[in-house]
Amino acid sequence: MRAFSRAAFGLIGAAALAAASDVHDLKSDTFADFVKEHDLVLAEFFAPWCGHCKALAPEYEEAATQLKEKNIQLAKVDCTEETELCQTYGVEGYPTLKVFRGPDSITPYSGQRKAQAIVSYMVKQSLPAVSVLAKDTLEDFKTSDKVVIVGYFAADDKSSNETFSSVADGLRDDYLFGATSDATLAEAEGVSQPAIVLYKTFDEGKDTFTEKFTKEAIEKFAKTSATPLIGEVGPETYAGYMAAGIPLAYIFAATPEERERFAKELKPVATKHKGVVNIATIDAEAFGQHGANLNLEVGKWPAFAIQETVKNQKFPFDQTKEITAESIGQFVDDFVAGKVSPSIKSEPVPETQEGPVHVVVAHNYDDLVLNSDKDVLLEFYAPWCGHCKALAPKYEELAALYFNNPEYAEKVIVAKVDATANDVPDEIQGFPTIKLFPAGKKSDPISYSGSRTVEDLANFIRDNGKHAVDAYVAEEKLELRDEDETAMPEQAKAATEAAGEAAGEAAESVKSGAEAATESVKSAASEATEAVKSAVEGEDADAADVHDEL
Ligand SMILES: *[C@@H]1O[C@H](CO)[C@@H](O)[C@H](O)[C@H]1NC(C)=O
Repeated sequence: MRAFSRAAFGLIGAAALAAASDVHDLKSDTFADFVKEHDLVLAEFFAPWCGHCKALAPEYEEAATQLKEKNIQLAKVDCTEETELCQTYGVEGYPTLKVFRGPDSITPYSGQRKAQAIVSYMVKQSLPAVSVLAKDTLEDFKTSDKVVIVGYFAADDKSSNETFSSVADGLRDDYLFGATSDATLAEAEGVSQPAIVLYKTFDEGKDTFTEKFTKEAIEKFAKTSATPLIGEVGPETYAGYMAAGIPLAYIFAATPEERERFAKELKPVATKHKGVVNIATIDAEAFGQHGANLNLEVGKWPAFAIQETVKNQKFPFDQTKEITAESIGQFVDDFVAGKVSPSIKSEPVPETQEGPVHVVVAHNYDDLVLNSDKDVLLEFYAPWCGHCKALAPKYEELAALYFNNPEYAEKVIVAKVDATANDVPDEIQGFPTIKLFPAGKKSDPISYSGSRTVEDLANFIRDNGKHAVDAYVAEEKLELRDEDETAMPEQAKAATEAAGEAAGEAAESVKSGAEAATESVKSAASEATEAVKSAVEGEDADAADVHDEL
């Protein structure tokens, strides 16, 4: 299947090559002029070896052809040739897509890498952020999207106009904005200028803004009011819920009928806690694995759990109890009152620390890492992660430098934690993640991004730890040369690419050469999270079983 689709892609690629391309190939001497000459440009910064870039290529070509007629230009820059240009624009992964409105207004494109998604996004970008409405266009406009926001203000009210327009500029990707200065339309709507009304296809159907006309207040109003009272967690909505800044409560149910029933039943709970806790249903059939991240027993549906999205704490509702408006109402009340303790997933605390590498689990994390007066180097790993396995022997060697020297052992601990089996407070973006928690400054851990050699790691501990223990120079100076990590850049690139692909990651790591790749897991602390995130975010559905290709 995979082989077949690769072959098919190959053919499309060849066909696209043969035809003239609508994608402009830009270099450092042409780029600046190009974005100056064209009002709206989407630029792709890529590397020829990058797999995601190759997958994007035919989609990008198709989008370029469709958008050409609308005078929207698509361009690409080969970052292996135009290194400086790519640095100028802060390119950190491949592919990176950026929207240019002239040379100075640059925003990232982070939508799907499909022709249709690119086309619809760029067309929206090309329209004015606020459509000017009149009597004959207002009614249609109100229902032209799931959420539309209309400003009613007088023609000479420049200040309201500017405030509203600046909100629209910032949120134009999310909602449609319109405005009218016709006072009779405001009157018909039952508001007086200046006013803002948000129209939506769900819940109450519309909401009127009642606060002072400031950018912040309007933005907050838009986000709160546009979130359905009980929506559904899925590929389109997940990121929004995570970005909402308030806890998210999930109702896991297997069938649409059941989800609808619960949504109705729990509506009073959602109304009561509106703006404090978001409540949403989730398809337990498709995304049941996500339950594991919330410390629910997967498969035991229906179920309910709250996720504190900022601190990533989980509050599963007892799965032996029935889900009713009363039981959940009480549970959410208690949660809001701070009466529910978060559930913490942990492996058992080891009775003794056997080897040089200390084993950290959730339940000894505070003792060993945060409350210790030693400099603690901690590796967050996943059992399936190939890069972690490759690092393991070197990590043992590193740990032994301190562990076997009584003087150093007093000052430095080298430790690891299986972040898929233990809830850790840290936001983990990839495996392995290595951080140093210096004595006395535990709340400010320093992430390690150097090459994974014993020498560099030891020097990192020396330079950033409070105790400045210089273990490597003292003990091992001549002996250690790490063959593996000075391997050919080509191999590292291949590894980087494979890792990026394996996890269905958005951008492949640019860190090539000796800095081996991190296996990506988009801010997930566990394998299940990643699988679900991929699924929920609609990314590579195969991701879960191809992590460990290396
Ligand atoms: C807001 O200002 C813009 C630019 O001056 C103008 O074109 C638009 O008609 C104004 N909107 C309203 C509703 O008056």
